[in-house]
Amino acid sequence: MRYLVLLSMAILVAGCGENPPPTTPFALSVPQGFPPPPIPEDNPLTVEGILLGRRLFYDPVLSRDSTQSCASCHNTAFGMTDHGLQFSVGITGAVGDRNSMPLHNLAYHRAFFWDGRAPSLRELTLIPIQDPREMDHSVPAVLTSLNANPTYRDLFWKAFGVRSITAEEVGLAMEQFLLTIMSGSSKFDRFARGLESLTPEEQQGMQLFNGEANPNAPTRGADCFHCHGGTLFTNHKFMNNGLDAVITDPGLGGVTGNPNDNGKFKVPSLRNIAYTAPYMHDGRFQTLMQVVEFYNSGTHANSPNIDPSMGDIIRSGGLGLNLQERMALVAFLNTLTDTSVETDTLFQNPFN
Ligand code: HEC
Ligand code: HEC
Repeated sequence: MRYLVLLSMAILVAGCGENPPPTTPFALSVPQGFPPPPIPEDNPLTVEGILLGRRLFYDPVLSRDSTQSCASCHNTAFGMTDHGLQFSVGITGAVGDRNSMPLHNLAYHRAFFWDGRAPSLRELTLIPIQDPREMDHSVPAVLTSLNANPTYRDLFWKAFGVRSITAEEVGLAMEQFLLTIMSGSSKFDRFARGLESLTPEEQQGMQLFNGEANPNAPTRGADCFHCHGGTLFTNHKFMNNGLDAVITDPGLGGVTGNPNDNGKFKVPSLRNIAYTAPYMHDGRFQTLMQVVEFYNSGTHANSPNIDPSMGDIIRSGGLGLNLQERMALVAFLNTLTDTSVETDTLFQNPFN
């Protein structure tokens, strides 16, 4: 009898919310051949945290007039970029000056945005919310709305064991959701696993992509792997690929204040590249053929802080790819498309 009383008292206390219910660990499915992703130790992935992060990602409550969510500019049908727009438009109609970025395989990245100004996904989350050219809201106002919402109070309690929601948990939940967006099942991946073959044109494009540039050598190369090599199709560095003779957007240099960083931008992954037009930090190129034409003959050797090996290639006459080779390179880039981000129910809008 005494135990029964104690037990019912314990249940009563739990019911009063002293102890949050246990969370459910989430087993991230890592594409075959990918290294294990470094998940922050202080933010282990849980089903509760990820689903809460997804809800926040799709919820326009994060914008001042409740018209814009993160997904407004990061749409799964466009490789998680902004509907083919050159520049994103915020809630006031203000237009930004950078092209929206894809959000897959971010678990492997250590600096975010084209200029690397956000050191973590949890810190990044608060930036678009407050950007006057994006969601134009304030963090305290977002927290007031979330804390007034019984559904969110319950979800934050279950995911993080907090009764009062702070910016920290908002960042942690969003970080968990973003970390789960993995992409590694393109035609190229199936080819690499021996499950599918590439056409002769795609094969030629792959050889060009991975070959050293030398217009006079019997085996031609376009030297793309030098910066976009490896499983993730990026070297994770910030570099200048010679877009402009005169720099207008300093990129990394605007963050570090070091003039030697002017014109350097995050080397983007080329996975899902067919989905994410237009291209470059300012969305200046509409098509992949335009991008390849640029690398072939449009790069500026005198661009400040240009990658030295790229400068050498330009001074020795450029890549010298003929039209057929340029088309093959584009065909190879098109094998990097993975439709799973678009179709995986985990990444879709939970309000639909
Ligand atoms: C108005 C459009 C817009 C909205 C809304 C928006 N973003 Fe973005 N996002 C962008 C643009 C543009 C960039 C590139 C900005 C830059 O480099 O300065 C970007 C970049 C990013 C990146 C960097 C990816 C990388 O590889 O470095 C992440 C992550 C991201 N956004 C997540 C979010 C999240 C989370 C939200 C909601 C809290 C959000 N975005 C809301 C337009 C938007
Ligand atoms: C010296 C390093 C370097 C080399 C070599 C290089 N790239 Fe890039 N690439 C970059 C950087 C840096 C950017 C982003 C530049 C910017 O927006 O300012 C970029 C951007 C791109 C983009 C646009 C991606 C997007 O999301 O907008 C494509 C496509 C691309 N490169 C393909 C190629 C191909 C194909 C080759 C080989 C012909 C190649 N790159 C060679 C560094 C390089």
